[in-house]
Amino acid sequence: MKRVITPGTFDPITSGHIDVITRAASISDEVIVAVAASPKKHPLFSLEERTDLAIRALAHLDNVRVEPFKGLLVDFCASMDAHVIVKGLRAITDFEYEFQMTALNYELNQHLETLFIMSPPNYMYLSSSIVREIASLGGDVSQFVPPCVDVALKEKFATALL
Ligand code: COA
Repeated sequence: MKRVITPGTFDPITSGHIDVITRAASISDEVIVAVAASPKKHPLFSLEERTDLAIRALAHLDNVRVEPFKGLLVDFCASMDAHVIVKGLRAITDFEYEFQMTALNYELNQHLETLFIMSPPNYMYLSSSIVREIASLGGDVSQFVPPCVDVALKEKFATALL
């Protein structure tokens, strides 16, 4: 496979995301990690912060680059001349949501394929919101996120915990 897109809000990027991106990088020439603005999710980290954290967390992967985007994913894929989206599938509960997004993206651009990579058991129940919640309550998330994200979460919640 040539160029693939791995999209998400990445608020923040977790070890589960990194696992999927690493697998995608091993079966493609180039991975573009597309960091969505996702204003409706009211992200904890700004688009710039989420992009910067993903760049730092993925710096060890030569064929991976990170790009922020606003607007439709299908338009971003077209602007990157990419025809394959790769997403992670964790539990069966992901399936319906992913099924809907894949079907809609296909309606918007029939030249776009979406492939899924199963998460390993240790990342099945990991999500960015769970990580945010544990960190916000002063819990240790170092086993779930790369070191730069661990530091960023501590800084973000430092004042809240005072
Ligand atoms: N490991 C750990 N967590 C994972 C994961 C993995 N492998 N895969 C997904 N997750 C988590 C995410 O962190 C996120 O967690 P949260 O909701 O607790 O924050 C959750 O699962 C949902 O992930 P995902 O399905 O990737 O959704 P997203 O909101 O991060 O990103 C976009 C969705 C950006 C791909 C989608 O909204 C999009 O395409 N937006 C652009 C606008 C558009 O085109 N809309 C029309 C779409 S049809």
